[in-house]
Amino acid sequence: MLVNAAEMLKKAMEGKYAVGHFNINNLEWTKAILLTAQELNSPVILGVSEGAGKYMTGFETVTQMVKAMDKSLGITVPVALHLDHGTYDGCYKCIKAGFTSIMFDGSSLPIEENIAKTTELVHVAHQLGMSIEAEVGAIGGEEDGVIGKGECADPAECKAIADLGIDFLAAGIGNIHGVYPDNWEGLSFETLDAIKKTVGDMPLVLHGGTGIPDDMISKAISLGVAKINVNTECQLVFAEATRGYIEAGKDQQGKGFDPRKLLNPGFEAIKAKVKEKMELFGSINKA
Ligand code: 13P
Repeated sequence: MLVNAAEMLKKAMEGKYAVGHFNINNLEWTKAILLTAQELNSPVILGVSEGAGKYMTGFETVTQMVKAMDKSLGITVPVALHLDHGTYDGCYKCIKAGFTSIMFDGSSLPIEENIAKTTELVHVAHQLGMSIEAEVGAIGGEEDGVIGKGECADPAECKAIADLGIDFLAAGIGNIHGVYPDNWEGLSFETLDAIKKTVGDMPLVLHGGTGIPDDMISKAISLGVAKINVNTECQLVFAEATRGYIEAGKDQQGKGFDPRKLLNPGFEAIKAKVKEKMELFGSINKA
C-alpha cells in the first residue's frame, strides 16, 4: 500500500534516523528500490522529478506502475510516491494522478508568492490525505536544467513556510545536487541548527545526498534531518554496471543484447547502493 510520507518522517525524526528518498527513472530502478526496502524492512520514498515523469510518459503511468509493482511484489513496508521539485502545475498533475506526496518548490519565487502557492497546495494536498514538502533557499547544482547556487536558507523564511502547515521542509544549507566540487565548503550546521530552532518539530529534508561525507550525514540527522534525497549516486552505479556488462562482451551471441540481462547489473548495483544508504541513514527495521 502506498502511504503519504508524513507519518514515516515524524517517526524518523523522533527516532533520530532518516528515510531515504530515492529518485526513480524507470522500471528497473523502481523494482530495485522497492525490493531493497522490503528486504531491509525499511520505509522508503520514491521521488519522481518532472523530467523523469515526462520520460516515463506521464505521472499517471508512474502511479499505475508503482501501485501495480508494490502489489505484485508483495511489498508491505510503507512506500510514499513523491513528486520531487514540483512546479505549481506539476503538483496539480501529481495530485490528479494519485501520488501520495508532493514537493512544491517555490524557492525561486519571491517569498510572498512562495507562501501564497504553498498555502493553497497544503490545503488541497491535505484534503486528499497527501503529504507536502516545501523548499526555502535554492539547492545548488542542476535540477531538470535549472541551476541553483546552493544558498543557505533564511531561518525566518523557513519559519514562515513551516507555519503554513506543510509536513516537511527542504531548506538550503549549502547542499548541492550532483557531485560536489572540490572547493565545496560542506554543510552549514550553523544554519541547520538555527532553522531547527525556529521550526520546532518539523522534519527537515536534505537534498543533494550524493557525495556528502558520512559524518556530515550523521550530524545532519542528529540535528533534525529526517529525509535524505539521493539520485546521482544511483545514476553513477547504474551506468558503471551497465557499461561493465557491455565492455565484458557478454550475451552477444550474434543476436545482440537481451535488455533484461543488459540492465540486470545496473539493477543489482542500485540495490546495493540503496542498502548502503539505508544502513547509513539508520532506517533498517524501522518499517
Ligand atoms: P543528488 O543528485 O545529490 O543525489 O540529489 C538528489 C536530490 O536531491 C533530488 O531531489
